[in-house]
Amino acid sequence: MARYQTQVGIIGAGPAGLMLSHLLHLQGIASIVLEAKSRDYCETRIRAGVLEHISVEMLRTAGVAGRLDKEALRHEGIELGLHGRRHRIPFVELTGKAVWVYGQQEVVKDLIAQRIADRGDLRFECGEVSLHNVDSARPLIHVQGNDTEDEIGCDYIAGCDGFHGVSRPSIPPNVLTVYERVYPFAWLGILAEAAPSREELLYMHHERGFALYSMRSPQITRLYLQCKPDEDLEPWTDERIWEELRTRLGCSDGWLPKEGKILQKGVTGMRSFVVEPLQYGRLFLAGDAAHIVPPTGAKGMNLALADVHYLAEALRACYRNNDDQQLERYSSTCLRRIWKAQRFSWWMTSLLHRFEDASAFDHKRQVAELDYVMSSRAAATMLAENYVGLPLE
Ligand code: FAD
Ligand code: PHB
Repeated sequence: MARYQTQVGIIGAGPAGLMLSHLLHLQGIASIVLEAKSRDYCETRIRAGVLEHISVEMLRTAGVAGRLDKEALRHEGIELGLHGRRHRIPFVELTGKAVWVYGQQEVVKDLIAQRIADRGDLRFECGEVSLHNVDSARPLIHVQGNDTEDEIGCDYIAGCDGFHGVSRPSIPPNVLTVYERVYPFAWLGILAEAAPSREELLYMHHERGFALYSMRSPQITRLYLQCKPDEDLEPWTDERIWEELRTRLGCSDGWLPKEGKILQKGVTGMRSFVVEPLQYGRLFLAGDAAHIVPPTGAKGMNLALADVHYLAEALRACYRNNDDQQLERYSSTCLRRIWKAQRFSWWMTSLLHRFEDASAFDHKRQVAELDYVMSSRAAATMLAENYVGLPLE
């Protein structure tokens, strides 16, 4: 068995694990990142696309926004659609802030490149990870490869391994409280080789179900259709997908999404999920390992970055000043922001989707609420303030 020693063992090389490793490096704190998948898989996995103002500031301050500043698309608002009419929510006018469209895999690529340039210890396709003695002063990570076995002794472990990782299940279930809501629908998402024909994202409420018009670059659009949670992709030919997108997104002024070759298709389930607390002994959960939001509010990657910002600050106080108070408060500090993002993501989801079991009253109330957001500056400001990202404490 090979034995290693580090200050912080990080499980998972998604946005949370990579950013944490980089922030710790900037503070002179060593880490080892253990990732189950290959580097190529992590760099090409299509997921989130919207960065809050605060996430962009965080990436800039950490010196990893060089490419983002050249390639990301700055969006000063979004559009909401109802009954074929669009209404713009002007973020900059309402809050002074904007958001950036930049694929999660681009953030991941930039962070991996930086960690490698800084000679960081990133171990892709690491094998099977298990956590031991996390409630003691000397937690251990075991990594079982095909014919290797490694043991990594750490001061602390950061569980950044997403919803299906090993970190959260390593905590005794009686320690954690789970809060969860599973939605009765999913999103069928496509990536298309078609130049965006709108400047901003369009969130469309439609009797046949929600649709979202988004983008990744001046050449690529990203579109979503509300579908069944167990939707079979087989009958969804490219032509049927475009026809449904035309039906749901088409507007009374004749606008239709520009079409192109479909490069990728997938179905994403929708849930709201939080565990409390985010700490057990010397194990700290961050990002999707601790919470999931439905994607309607574009909050998942941003929450992951905010968690590791707090965690890196708390670890810095520990190593620099021997002060573990911030680390003790890590869970409660993160949870205040997490619950606000949960509320916002639930609200956007409830506002825009078609609920099969909604009564006629529920439906009328939903349409009235959307109409209100589209006609009241106060309501639009609430949406804008949350979408661009609430301030860090
Ligand atoms: P992940 O990105 O899931 O990273 C976890 C890593 O851990 C993975 O690389 C995984 O391979 C690895 N891992 C798992 N198990 C193990 C193990 N046992 N050992 C070692 N490694 C392991 N968020 C937004 O902010 N804006 C959006 O617009 C948005 N849109 C989305 C659209 C879709 C279709 C989806 C699916 C998600 C979207 N999200 C969005 C959510 C966002 O993608 C996630 O919240 C984000 O990936 C969380 O980052 P993370 O680092 O916590 O977890
Ligand atoms: C995306 O571009 O993938 C995207 C944008 C906004 C969302 C969710 C996903 O709310």
